[in-house]
Amino acid sequence: MPATSLLSSNQTMPVTIQRTSWAENETALRSIREAVFIREQRVPESLEWDEHDQQAVHFLALGPGGIPAGCIRLLPTGQLSRLAVLEQFRNQDIGSALLSAAEAEARSSGMDEIFLHAQTQATHFYENAGFTVSGGIFLEADIPHRQMFKELGH
Ligand SMILES: CC(C)(COP(=O)(O)OP(=O)(O)OC[C@H]1O[C@@H](n2cnc3c(N)ncnc32)[C@H](O)[C@@H]1OP(=O)(O)O)[C@@H](O)C(=O)NCCC(=O)NCCS
Repeated sequence: MPATSLLSSNQTMPVTIQRTSWAENETALRSIREAVFIREQRVPESLEWDEHDQQAVHFLALGPGGIPAGCIRLLPTGQLSRLAVLEQFRNQDIGSALLSAAEAEARSSGMDEIFLHAQTQATHFYENAGFTVSGGIFLEADIPHRQMFKELGH
C-alpha cells in the first residue's frame, strides 16, 4: 500500500501522518493500541484484535525520530475506529490530525458518510471535528459509547 504523509497543524512538534496497512506496520500499530486500549483502558485483548485490521486503511502518527505516537483505522464500511494517541503525546493536535487524515481518505474513496463509536468521554473531541451524535449510550468493552456520524460533502 503506498504511504503518504501529511503534517499536523501542531506548531510545537513536527508530526508525520503515514498512510499504511496492517501488513506493513503491525508492530507499531500493536504497540500503540496495547499501551492505550489494553493497558490504560483495560480493554480485553480478545476484543481489541479483530479481523477488520487486515482490510482497514491504517494511519500512524510518527513523532520526532519516527517514534510511533498514535493511530486510527478506516474500514470499508466508512467506520473509523481505534483512534489512540500515547499519553505523552496528547493535546498536541495529533488525534485531530489522524482523524483528518482518515476523513480525507474516506472522501477520496468516494464515501458519502463516515461514522464511529465514540467513548462518551470523547464525544466533544469528535463534535469539534464536525461529528454528530446519533442514538443512545451503549457498552463496548464495558466502556459507554455513542454512535456518531459525519456527512462528507463532495
Ligand atoms: C481522544 C484522543 C485520541 C485525543 O488525542 P489528542 O492528540 O490528545 O487530541 P488533540 O490534541 O488533537 O485534541 C484536540 C482537542 O480535543 C480535546 N480533547 C482531546 N481529548 C479529549 C477528550 N477525551 N474529551 C474531550 N476533549 C478532548 C483537546 O482538549 C483539544 O481541544 P482544544 O483544541 O480546544 O484545546 C486521546 O486523548 C486518546 O488517545 N485517548 C485515549 C483513547 C481514546 O479515548 N480514544 C478514543 C476512543 S473513541
